[in-house]
Amino acid sequence: MSDLDKFLEKIKNNVKIEPKDWMPDGYRKHLQRQMSQHAHSEIIGMQPEGNWITRAPSLRAKVILLAKIQDEAGHGQYLYSAAETLGKSRDEYIHELQTRKAKYSSIFNYPTLTWADMGAVGWLVDGAAIVNQVSLQKTSYGPYSRAMVRICKEESFHQRQGYEIMSQMAFGTAEQKEMAQDALNRFWWPSIMMFGPHDADSARSGDAMKWGIKVESNDELRQRFIDKTVQQAEIIGLTIPDPDLKWNEEKGSYDFGKMDWDEFWQVVKGNGPCNDQRINHHIKAHEEGTWVREAAIAYAKKNN
Ligand code: 3HC
Repeated sequence: MSDLDKFLEKIKNNVKIEPKDWMPDGYRKHLQRQMSQHAHSEIIGMQPEGNWITRAPSLRAKVILLAKIQDEAGHGQYLYSAAETLGKSRDEYIHELQTRKAKYSSIFNYPTLTWADMGAVGWLVDGAAIVNQVSLQKTSYGPYSRAMVRICKEESFHQRQGYEIMSQMAFGTAEQKEMAQDALNRFWWPSIMMFGPHDADSARSGDAMKWGIKVESNDELRQRFIDKTVQQAEIIGLTIPDPDLKWNEEKGSYDFGKMDWDEFWQVVKGNGPCNDQRINHHIKAHEEGTWVREAAIAYAKKNN
């Protein structure tokens, strides 16, 4: 039996692929890209929320936001560590991010303009990430799957704290409700596009499904997120900004309007509202943190 046949046999039987196992180059490269871009998303995603730490409306809100942002840093570490098992260093991945060779989730290139955006990000962005990441727990690559299990344990707190902010504001003053609706209007469409292009237009999904990297498609996951989130919006009296949204009894899910893929690809390609700011901030923070990394490495060398 060839190495490839043995590999495909494992995928077929849901046996996890481990770092020391033989794997096709294409599988390794696909995972290096997807896992590092996933890690980049966690770290860059700290910026839009970090923007509101000093302006949180109460000590309780500040503590919750701080805890959430710290969680995201930890998720990034899990994912970089898992991505390093594929034979590429964290420094290489970070260089690809800072030189814009690598991507991160387009959603983080939108600005967070009001406190309600903290609610919308937790509720919608983390809500979408949960749907995607729960599915990714079944991914065929062992370290990625185990990282997902750890991350999913914390993500539901992220979604709940965001939904709590949105419901407090939706049931607050007229101005607060208006702020919450505005945040939903700005974050709804970019959030549902976090699941990637339609299956038929996805360049990577074919391989991802063949190799068990993905077990459910972009459109399946997007639909699941929409069906769940529309009901949550109704409970707090907010309106999903999609005039074509309609329950389809036959399908047992919502029909929804067309997404703006031109805007999506513009943002993915680096022309979103905050792409430059996010990368420049990352470069500055990474440079300012050099002494911390050097101290940690010196300590590790001295004590190992
Ligand atoms: N944002 C940025 N890039 C995207 C994208 C998006 N929303 N959707 C697709 N792309 C990129 C892909 O990464 C790919 O780039 P590459 O060729 O450099 O690899 C290119 O566009 C073509 O993509 P595909 O059409 O093949 O898209 P996929 O079918 O691969 O789906 C994906 C994209 C859904 C992001 C998939 O890669 C995936 O599931 N990744 C793992 C999950 C992930 O990265 N989630 C990001 C959010 S994590 C997060 O939000 C943190 C949370 O704590 C808040």
